[in-house]
Amino acid sequence: MVKICCIGAGYVGGPTMAVIALKCPEISVAVVDIATARINAWNSDHLPIYEPGLEEVVKNCRGKNLFFSTDVEKHVAEADIVFVSVNTPTKTQGLGAGKAADLTYWESAARMIADVSKSDKIVVEKSTVPVKTAEAIEKILTHNRKGINFTILSNPEFLAEGTAIKDLLNPDRVLIGGRETPEGAKAIQALKDVYAHWVPVDKILCTNLWSAELSKLAANAFLAQRISSVNAMSALCEATGADVTQVSHAIGTDSRIGPKFLNSSVGFGGSCFQKDILNLVYICECNGLPEVATYWKQVIKVNDYQKTRFVNRVVSSMFNTVSGKKIAILGFAFKKDTGDTRETPAIDVCKGLLGDRARLSIYDPQVTEEQISRDLSMNKFDWDHPAHLQPTSPTSIKTVSVVWDAYEATKEAHAVCILTEWDEFKKLDYQKVYDNMQKPAFIFDGRSIVDVEKLRKIGFIVFSIGKPLDSWLKDMPAAA
Ligand code: NAD
Ligand code: UGA
Repeated sequence: MVKICCIGAGYVGGPTMAVIALKCPEISVAVVDIATARINAWNSDHLPIYEPGLEEVVKNCRGKNLFFSTDVEKHVAEADIVFVSVNTPTKTQGLGAGKAADLTYWESAARMIADVSKSDKIVVEKSTVPVKTAEAIEKILTHNRKGINFTILSNPEFLAEGTAIKDLLNPDRVLIGGRETPEGAKAIQALKDVYAHWVPVDKILCTNLWSAELSKLAANAFLAQRISSVNAMSALCEATGADVTQVSHAIGTDSRIGPKFLNSSVGFGGSCFQKDILNLVYICECNGLPEVATYWKQVIKVNDYQKTRFVNRVVSSMFNTVSGKKIAILGFAFKKDTGDTRETPAIDVCKGLLGDRARLSIYDPQVTEEQISRDLSMNKFDWDHPAHLQPTSPTSIKTVSVVWDAYEATKEAHAVCILTEWDEFKKLDYQKVYDNMQKPAFIFDGRSIVDVEKLRKIGFIVFSIGKPLDSWLKDMPAAA
């Protein structure tokens, strides 16, 4: 029986391995992690991450050919193929701080693999890593091996949260990069055989190691660039009376551009876009390509501008002050159908409003109060490091309350900010919301989900990203 072990039971490791176990019943899959609480949750009825369809897949395979364990060394030692799916955060200190990828967790995993291995292994980079990382990993493995052969592959993951299971079951492509040697080709074939259980072979792309590593960073950079492009357009739409939804539709019907990923928003979030672009920028700078670095840096700058612009719009519309005013925040996760808050734009928007001394009442159907207060007290980039390196008792933020109902959040509020596109926010009884708010009642829709005309008829003053402004907002221009 082929044995697979995956180091890192996170958003990638857990769902990816669960789908491999589901589709390959004759392969034994162990997912290991140093975080005991996370492994306990994977073994319980309350999985550590919320992802539609995940629970069914896990329940189907757990205890048969899918195992979650903290016994990292035992499972690594027994495996034929070891996936490494640990965090690769942005460095917070030292050389490259604020840009370069921190490979501490990857390196310690590689050293442990070399230490405990007693048989030949294929080691698969699943984490997103800087191009050329495989070379460094190979050096760690080969300098520490005891007559054992390690073959390294790059197999980046392209799943998106909220649709992870769908993406894994039916991927646009699977990418496998390896050395152009007989051992490399053999390892590529072995991994290809795993995916070929359910992925059509013409969708399994095989490249050299560096192309695979770089393609992952490039894909995220291109995706994020599309959002920053449409968000830059949204600012121009508001200034001119054009409607960004109409513009997106008009350009998206060009088959060369395509309709996906053109939704204007309060800014992209998530654990990877910013981190991976910063990493790309750093690699360009290290390779003497400052113009290329500046080009990609601009994608992040526009994203930051979009969040600042949103906060400025809220404050300026409300007579230039939100001090002491209750503002309802609907949605905190970085997108719908996930409880993940990593780099969510809601953090920057909330911090911006708190900076102007607003009182916030936050509601998200999947994010806990504990998570929100941790996010609002944490320094930039700290979230992607293990829990013991994070502040243990978050500074209590007295002006923030977290509630479990949108109507409770909006009661007696001066304004509502929609920061995540949860479906339930489209279906709220906005007349009821309006009746219970202070007047004038404002709605700032950072996700373009509300029916602007309908809400204006109820009496709201409505701002929706990239949509024509109503006369109130036109008279109160936001500072840049
Ligand atoms: P995550 O933080 O959810 O999971 C990583 C896990 O690795 C953590 O549970 C951590 O405890 C564990 N870990 C760290 N060091 C370890 C060690 N030495 N031994 C055992 N376990 C260890 O992160 P994630 O979201 O799953 O992302 C993992 C990687 O995949 C990152 O490089 C990320 O860029 C990439 N990626 C993420 C996504 C996504 O949607 N989240 C998609 C594609 C790629
Ligand atoms: C993204 C990529 O889509 C995945 O292919 C990749 O594997 C993953 O990053 C990763 O490497 O981590 P994810 O961050 O989970 O996936 O979610 P997306 O659907 O890409 O959304 C990212 C952010 O962009 C969200 O905040 C979302 O609301 C925002 N977004 C997305 C927009 O503002 N507009 C859009 O049109 C699309």
